[in-house]
Amino acid sequence: MTDDALDTLLASVSERVTPDAAERERLQAVADELAVRAEVAIDELPVEADTAKVGSSARSTWLAGDRDIDLFVRFSPELDREELEQYGLDVGHHVLPDGHEEYAEHPYVKGEYEGFEVDLVPCYAVDAATDIRSAVDRTPFHDAYLQARYTPKLSEDARLLKRFLKGIGVYGSDLRTAGFSGYLVELLVLEYGGFRPLVEAATEWHPPVEFDLRRNDDDDGAAVVRPEEQDAAAFDDPLVVIDPTDPDRNVAAVLSESNLARFQHYCRELLADPREELFFPEPTEPLDADAVQEHIERRGSHPVAVVFDAPAVVEDQLFPQLRRSLEGVRGELDRRDFDPLRAATFAADAEGSDGNGDGTDDAESWGRAVLLVETSVESLPAIERHEGPPVHVGEHARSFYEAYASTDSVYGPFVDGDRYVVERERDHRTPEAFLRSDALFDVALGAHVESTLEREYEVLVGEAVAELADEFGSELRTYFQPRV
Ligand code: CTP
Ligand code: MG
Repeated sequence: MTDDALDTLLASVSERVTPDAAERERLQAVADELAVRAEVAIDELPVEADTAKVGSSARSTWLAGDRDIDLFVRFSPELDREELEQYGLDVGHHVLPDGHEEYAEHPYVKGEYEGFEVDLVPCYAVDAATDIRSAVDRTPFHDAYLQARYTPKLSEDARLLKRFLKGIGVYGSDLRTAGFSGYLVELLVLEYGGFRPLVEAATEWHPPVEFDLRRNDDDDGAAVVRPEEQDAAAFDDPLVVIDPTDPDRNVAAVLSESNLARFQHYCRELLADPREELFFPEPTEPLDADAVQEHIERRGSHPVAVVFDAPAVVEDQLFPQLRRSLEGVRGELDRRDFDPLRAATFAADAEGSDGNGDGTDDAESWGRAVLLVETSVESLPAIERHEGPPVHVGEHARSFYEAYASTDSVYGPFVDGDRYVVERERDHRTPEAFLRSDALFDVALGAHVESTLEREYEVLVGEAVAELADEFGSELRTYFQPRV
């Protein structure tokens, strides 16, 4: 690779993702208009409030063609939560008459305005990000921090990083994606002074890595990593970026270990072979049922899937619950000797298309959900080995022996080595028998997943899993044609 090849590529990507003057003016005009509409609505309220433009649209770090505007309405911290919510929604509905309510930490209004997707979010106007009463109260501080330090060159590089992360599928701080947030992108670019130095450094990271941008404010601003100066014990995350506006918070807290590893892999790829597809990948085709069936046959494994209607909770609740449930089921199949190879969980949105993963919290907009575990073992003997204590341990050994000696349903007790052993009847000889039994409810399931399964679920076995291709073709492609 020559430096030129990467620089040329970055210039060409930058060209594609930099909003032109017309787009910037248009967005600015619409954002101003929204702020004015909000001011008008605020005047009608019995309390004071002001507006704050936040997010990438306020800082010129949005990607060309992205059409979202985040507008915050800041209320006095004297208001109680219900008042804040009510007034916030009043303003939201006034500004966005066709908007609908969504729920983050508290409700807010989301809607379309002049072709833009607008989030109108109420928050408390607290004095410092450390005094927040709700997570969204931090946002205006993030904005102020970055506004004071960003330059057009940094904005350009933040856009490159966002596009790169989107290209490799790890952009988004929603809990489905578990990737990088916009704020994290901007802090990392600021820390390293640009996209390229960040990418070069990231190839050498040994997680856990920790950054504290507050130290840059006193010195010459050079982005030097000095992990020894920091107290990495405070956070148990693979990437730690201390929030400079609220040092108790790790901005990268939701980033998963896998997504950090993916990022490092693709940083290496980009340096070794700079190419546009890393930023703009070709869309992939979903797998159809025949292709899924072929994979199952070729692998000679035993996939089983628990299929149910996804509980009507927001995305940020659903995906952690699905993952927890999957880990519970996978772990139990492992303990029961079915030897899982791999596992995955999916949920479809109600329209039957794949979820968009854009982090929007549309409760009750889900279709079916799946807990898929691919096991190595299709069926086990009717009996299983159960080891008792060594014969020489006295009381304990005698009670084991006596308990089983009087039981007809076992082979033994006999001695194997120095221990008593019995062979007793196995509870479930196949993964599907276990999944169809009440024992499924003894594993740790996400709360809403558990209550949903208590009503109804279906178990698909072996090649029958292929029927999921209609709804989950993209997810099944990712599963059966895995890549970094
Ligand atoms: N935010 C929020 N609640 C929302 C929408 C946004 O608290 N419903 C906050 C986020 O926490 C973030 C800021 O507003 O600090 C902007 O959020 P987002 O649009 O997700 O990120 P951007 O930085 O604007 O990046 P992007 O270019 O992806 O829009
Ligand atoms: Mg935004």
